[in-house]
Amino acid sequence: MEEENHVAVFDFGSQYTQLIVRRVRELGFFAKLYEPDEIGEIGTPGAIILSGGPKSTSDDDAPDIDFEALKGYGVPVLGVCYGMQLLNIKFGGSVKASNHREYGGAALHVQGDSPLYFGVTDKSQVWMSHSDTVEDLGESVQVIATNQKGTPVSLCWNELFYGIQYHPEVTHSHEGNVILRNFLGLAKQLQPFKIEDFKRDMINGIRERVGDRQVVCGVSGGVDSTVLAVLLQEAGVNVRAIFVDNGLLRKDEARQVQENFARMNVPIETVDASAEFLAGLAGKDDPEEKRKIIGNLFIKVFWDSVGDAEMLAQGTLYPDVIESASNAKSKASVIKTHHNRVPKILELQEQGKVLEPLAELFKDEVRELGAALGIEPDILNRHPFPGPGLAVRCPGAVDLERLDIIRECDAIFIGKLKEHGWYDKVWQAYAGLIPVKTVGVKGDERSYEWATNLRAVISEDAMTAEWVDLPAQLLRETSQDILNQVSGINRVLYDISTKPPASIEWE
Ligand code: XMP
Repeated sequence: MEEENHVAVFDFGSQYTQLIVRRVRELGFFAKLYEPDEIGEIGTPGAIILSGGPKSTSDDDAPDIDFEALKGYGVPVLGVCYGMQLLNIKFGGSVKASNHREYGGAALHVQGDSPLYFGVTDKSQVWMSHSDTVEDLGESVQVIATNQKGTPVSLCWNELFYGIQYHPEVTHSHEGNVILRNFLGLAKQLQPFKIEDFKRDMINGIRERVGDRQVVCGVSGGVDSTVLAVLLQEAGVNVRAIFVDNGLLRKDEARQVQENFARMNVPIETVDASAEFLAGLAGKDDPEEKRKIIGNLFIKVFWDSVGDAEMLAQGTLYPDVIESASNAKSKASVIKTHHNRVPKILELQEQGKVLEPLAELFKDEVRELGAALGIEPDILNRHPFPGPGLAVRCPGAVDLERLDIIRECDAIFIGKLKEHGWYDKVWQAYAGLIPVKTVGVKGDERSYEWATNLRAVISEDAMTAEWVDLPAQLLRETSQDILNQVSGINRVLYDISTKPPASIEWE
């Protein structure tokens, strides 16, 4: 389909390019990503953005764009970082290569009254990440903003071409969205972003790539893999969804996952490998060793049941793509990278057999897409749950008795959160086990039992987290029910540790 009045974003290789696309969508307009050599195949855009990139314009293999074709569209163009340097060269200026990197905040000093800066506060913080800088300015250029040292950081040519040295798409540029909105306001007409159109495009793209091949995907009941499976089903491809029950799931979770998929009319194959996982974990108490055992067993069980895959679909999201490329610090992403990039998968990828349709999206967009696919809110709003499951909520060795105790405590706590209207207000909550025995009294008898820790946090991206100030009544009822109903527990603790220094999970 030929695109119309959309925002065409050209990717010069910056790790923030997809973030530009996302910001445009957030501002309500349809954006599409292109490679620079696709300049002649972008339909009739309403505005064009040239992204940043890691290269220097003076490198032999520096990415370029056909300037005549770019001008030919007659629409506003915004060059970001590398994009601005490229525009400066096209307009007859030059760029000074440098090994010195400017990285971090700078104060924006607006010069004149360019519409790009309507409503932007003086000295607003913008985020820099570059080495090269513009040197000579070409003809017909206007400097519309400088940094605190008077160096030009924003240029305008002929009222239609704009350049900015900083990155408006990152949140550290405090008024980045205002600047982007101002830029998009220069377009005569822009196509609004509608999740329905987006869904349609994704489905068409999947059909085209898959044809009549069978696609295998793993499902966990979590948001990403569920949206992926439903999307594939909606695209009408021949899909085989496999759910591995590793025995480390929450109370009734395997049954709930099966029921949820049945509700959505997506058939899944359940592989009950709980005995294998528990046997593999027996007596192992080192957190990293436990994780490794679980990760390797998952791969073995999954691929044993898949056999020879014609195609594999994965629910990789954009942050996973970026983080796996840039050596993520978070445990979750490293583990995910590990699962999504094992040798078997890399081999399939080389053969063009890996499909990652969500790789352009962020978590909240996946939820939005899921809603457009008709997935119920209770499934979409499920708290995140780690791949290694309850094993990371049970410090030390894992066995069935301990897992069952966690399952009971957790079900009571989550039930209370839902009853009191707190489940959807927190990012993640759970009960875990502290396998340390302490003395208590139950009935008229001495008890010598373990403790459970309740954890409820709010977070934006799981990199940092704050504990939640839950109402005392909710905690009181939870504690009372656990102490009355769960044998093996005589103490309930509430975890009031922030991340950092603690992590969300205990292992
Ligand atoms: P931590 O414990 O590192 O957890 O603060 C941050 C977020 O990541 C989840 N988590 C995982 N997710 N595989 C996953 O898919 C994992 O191995 C894993 N470990 C932690 C955790 O539940 C929290 O949301």
